[in-house]
Amino acid sequence: MSTVTSDCRNPATPPLQDLRIGVLCGGNSPERPGSLASGAAAAKGLAQAGLTGELIDVAEVPVDQFARSIDVALLALHGLGGEDGKMQGALDLYGVPYTGSGVLASATGMDKTALKTLLAAQHIDTPRWAELNPALSTAATLDMIKHSLGYPVFYKPVSGGGSLEAGVAHDQQQMTDLLERAKVHPYERYMAEPLLDGSPCTVGLIEIDGALTALPVLHVRTDREFYDYDAKHDLTLRTETCPADLPDGLTRQMQATAKRVHQLVGAHGVSRVDFMVTPGGRAAVLEINTLPGLSEHGNLATMARAAGISYPDLMVHILRSAFSKPAYLP
Ligand SMILES: Nc1ncnc2c1ncn2[C@@H]1O[C@H](COP(=O)(O)OP(=O)(O)O)[C@@H](O)[C@H]1O
Ligand SMILES: [Mg+2]
Repeated sequence: MSTVTSDCRNPATPPLQDLRIGVLCGGNSPERPGSLASGAAAAKGLAQAGLTGELIDVAEVPVDQFARSIDVALLALHGLGGEDGKMQGALDLYGVPYTGSGVLASATGMDKTALKTLLAAQHIDTPRWAELNPALSTAATLDMIKHSLGYPVFYKPVSGGGSLEAGVAHDQQQMTDLLERAKVHPYERYMAEPLLDGSPCTVGLIEIDGALTALPVLHVRTDREFYDYDAKHDLTLRTETCPADLPDGLTRQMQATAKRVHQLVGAHGVSRVDFMVTPGGRAAVLEINTLPGLSEHGNLATMARAAGISYPDLMVHILRSAFSKPAYLP
């Protein structure tokens, strides 16, 4: 049973056990499988905390239908249409409180080049980047990458997630192969960054009793070329260390940077900031996930456990964030 009681310290929070909680998941984004897993885990976690969540697949039930039958939405959506501000805007219009960030922060977090422009303006370390112009020929794109970044590069969709449609190119031929492969719906905009030699780290952030809290850093190692879709979904293809076995100064720096990034985009309640850490101790921000995966053995839950926060308690903290938003959030 949860140790977080659902009576509220925030006077604006209604008693959680009285609420009809809709756990929104599924949808039509390429990250649908991960979202269904997040939703199922979240509903189970709520039940363990003595609360009742109704699983709602937003690809099956229209917003105008479920918005009338719930008091609060716990968002277990990932990717386009769910994590990018669109569902958030719809819920705002229907007056349904929801967990996580509002429209602007969600949209900014989903657009890696918009985020990186903000990071660069604040001198927060992020790899250099070039967005590819779809109007250019393959030859002109190859030329642009060679001159602006050089090889090797990491190639990914601007609004992707879960490492889908991403890849490494060590030379022009590999880049040509990626360009041929990736012109697929629904991702239309792609970007390239210099390939950083290192390993991924991530920092979860959750609001606890009104205070934004950085969780212990999680360090991932994988023998695959990078932390790809398969490694993200198969525990045998990666090793996780949490708290990370990195120098204290570096982990503290990453936690502080993660908080800055969360606050810079105006995120709310929960997020996860991804980094690449090089052997020389450089920690470069790759992105912010405004609706991180909620699986019980996913990154966020692992980091929470390392901080002594059980999975049901994590769900209650996230749920509470629906009621602690500023009165107006763009
Ligand atoms: N510039 C880069 N250099 C090296 N690896 C990268 C780079 N960008 C992304 N990656 C790899 O791809 C993974 C996913 O990248 P990320 O930017 O977090 O996108 P996603 O939204 O798909 O999670 C990272 O964890 C890392 O393994
Ligand atoms: Mg990521």
